[in-house]
Amino acid sequence: MSNNLLKGKRGVIFGALNEQSIAWKVAVRAVEEGATITLSNTPMAIRMGEVNALAEQLNCEVIPADATNVEELENVFKRSMEVLGGKVDFVLHSIGMSPNVRKKRTYDDLDYGMLEKTLDISAVSFHKVIQVAKKMDAVAEYGSILALSYVAAQRTFFGYNDMADAKALLESIARSFGYIYGREKNVRVNTISQSPTPTTAGSGVKGMDKLMDFSNRMSPLGNASADECADYCIIMFSDLTRKVTMQNLFHDGGFSSVGMSLRAMATYEKGLEDYMDENGNIIYG
Ligand SMILES: NC(=O)c1ccc[n+]([C@@H]2O[C@H](COP(=O)([O-])OP(=O)(O)OC[C@H]3O[C@@H](n4cnc5c(N)ncnc54)[C@H](O)[C@@H]3O)[C@@H](O)[C@H]2O)c1
Repeated sequence: MSNNLLKGKRGVIFGALNEQSIAWKVAVRAVEEGATITLSNTPMAIRMGEVNALAEQLNCEVIPADATNVEELENVFKRSMEVLGGKVDFVLHSIGMSPNVRKKRTYDDLDYGMLEKTLDISAVSFHKVIQVAKKMDAVAEYGSILALSYVAAQRTFFGYNDMADAKALLESIARSFGYIYGREKNVRVNTISQSPTPTTAGSGVKGMDKLMDFSNRMSPLGNASADECADYCIIMFSDLTRKVTMQNLFHDGGFSSVGMSLRAMATYEKGLEDYMDENGNIIYG
């Protein structure tokens, strides 16, 4: 259902790979709400993924770029302003990748070259996107720039590895740049901290199924889906949130504020039986 929340707005969406991608859902919703957009992803993702099909569906252009490459980002904004006919009103950074996670290197055995890549792709690229946009004056007054984060930035989660450090940096960049961009151009910069979501990037997280189940039981409203995340992004791009900036906004069904829920406790109690001896004594270890 459309409420024309983005009528006449122009946007750039980074990170749509396939139909599961959060960026994919945001792109579809943004166009539904009246925006015109461009899409960007790496040349490899464009070849391997389905972004060209999305571009056809939404009648928009795909501009290849590695988000760690400043020149390629400059081209994304230059070309976007050309095809969209002016400055952009919103930008979605929906990019994340950890070579350490991919190669199953644990947090106490990180490869530092790979750590640099994780941080560059998943966090510093957000700084690069914003800095390029600001230097080119590519974002209109009261524009909105968003990136996607995860609660592992604040609290430790088994298996999230060096992506936790990347997300902490990502959220810090939103605050630091949000201050400058807000002060000078009234542009908003925020992150949305999303529930675990079954996507290509999500499935890289160790024990993703169990994490999703735990998080669902801990959240009074249950896990937030990718479609629901897209709805939240639309509101953040709209004029209804013009004074929201420098925030990390939890979109997680309440997960981040819960210590222990009844549903999680009930499962935890059942789970303990696995670790009891025949006399009912709990075995720790
Ligand atoms: N899936 C989850 O559980 C979850 C939860 C919270 C936050 N997030 C975040 O949401 C964002 C989107 O991920 P997703 O879950 O939709 O998965 P996804 O795999 O669909 O999207 C990740 C995207 O990053 C792109 N990418 C990787 N390296 C890149 C580079 N160098 N330059 C440009 N693009 C590059 C990929 O091509 C892909 O399109 C990520 O920041 C992710 O960390 C995901």
